[in-house]
Amino acid sequence: MKPLGPIPPGFSGIDGVLSIDGRTVTDLVEHAGSTPLFVYSASRLTARAQALRAAMPSRLAIHYAVKANPYPPLLKHMLSLVDGFDIASGGELAIVKGSGIDPSRVSFAGPGKRDSELEAAIAAGVTLNLESEGEAARALAIAARLGITPRLAIRVNPDFDLKGSGMKMGGGAKPFGIDAERVPALAQRLIAAGAQWRGFHIFAGSQALSADAIIETQRQTLELAARLAEESGAALPRCNLGGGIGIPYFPGDEPVDVNAVGEALGERFETLPDVLRDTAFCIELGRYLVGEAGVYLTRVVDRKESHGEVYLVTDGGLHHQLAASGNFGTVVRRNYPSAIATRFGAAVEEEASVVGCLCTPLDRLADKGGFPRADVGDIVAIFCAGAYGATASPAMFLGQGPAAEMLI
Ligand SMILES: Cc1ncc(COP(=O)(O)O)c(C=O)c1O
Repeated sequence: MKPLGPIPPGFSGIDGVLSIDGRTVTDLVEHAGSTPLFVYSASRLTARAQALRAAMPSRLAIHYAVKANPYPPLLKHMLSLVDGFDIASGGELAIVKGSGIDPSRVSFAGPGKRDSELEAAIAAGVTLNLESEGEAARALAIAARLGITPRLAIRVNPDFDLKGSGMKMGGGAKPFGIDAERVPALAQRLIAAGAQWRGFHIFAGSQALSADAIIETQRQTLELAARLAEESGAALPRCNLGGGIGIPYFPGDEPVDVNAVGEALGERFETLPDVLRDTAFCIELGRYLVGEAGVYLTRVVDRKESHGEVYLVTDGGLHHQLAASGNFGTVVRRNYPSAIATRFGAAVEEEASVVGCLCTPLDRLADKGGFPRADVGDIVAIFCAGAYGATASPAMFLGQGPAAEMLI
């Protein structure tokens, strides 16, 4: 039997059925009309954001990385919980605008921004985190044509990465950001061109579980920001310190001690060099804010055995939960937290693999896990489904289409 990842704390059952915020998943599925279904808990979103804010120094603004989950009702819920939003495309810009988010609270990072996306962002008053000198030149030309003063920041490709992070975004050649040594000259050019200078965006990595690694990266980030601001010869209005706080997905993973991270950052803020004294700081997080608030529910449509192994074949799969299938940035496939939601808390009776309805061996949501015996009609829950689930999976593969989503 292979171990399953840790179910986030606070989930319980009602008469043996998993409940989310006091409602059984059978009720929720009935309400939605069908499986597969993503359920996002508003109270979990609120609790997470509030706890994070309490742990961080008050000077630190918290931004939500929309890429983790752009479901409009969820975005609207995040409006009162975070200070800003980071988008990665013109599509996400349209979603945030449609959700009533003030574009002045939005920043746009990501390589390969098309002219049409730059234009829409500049016209809306979004801050652009520039990823290259070429992109900077295009942004300035578009702004001049529109007669608008653009809000421009530089995404710095730092000389370091976030140790232990699932996705490294710095420390060597990268398609993201501008190599640190070229940043001061570009900052001077942007300021001379009359742009509204919005500072640096320094994102070194994502999905780290070590508080020490995050603390060390924030130390390096502040040091780099100070050096680049000195070399630019201009005050630094803002500095986005990146993010990187991960969540436990796999057996043995432990949550990040965010209090330790906040305490260390608070101490650094007390002793900032002069060049950063008036700088506004933020962090930019996706999965930490929303990942554990989501549960993916999929129904068993077939139970079969092959060479003595049990397969629970569901109506969902990797087309909604690519990450849980191990095909989204993981090197070694391990099991996400999962359970038979309609037999929640029941004793383990057998080893079974939960697979999806796609005809590819990649479509495996749980591999040889220990479960109570499940049958056709039972509902499987995959936890930690609030981030990079619906949005980061190939929903149209094999003509399956998207899952339903619901914020409760
Ligand atoms: C620029 C940027 N911001 C934010 C994020 C969100 O990361 P996470 O969801 O791990 O917090 C990413 C993830 O790749 C990113 O590239």
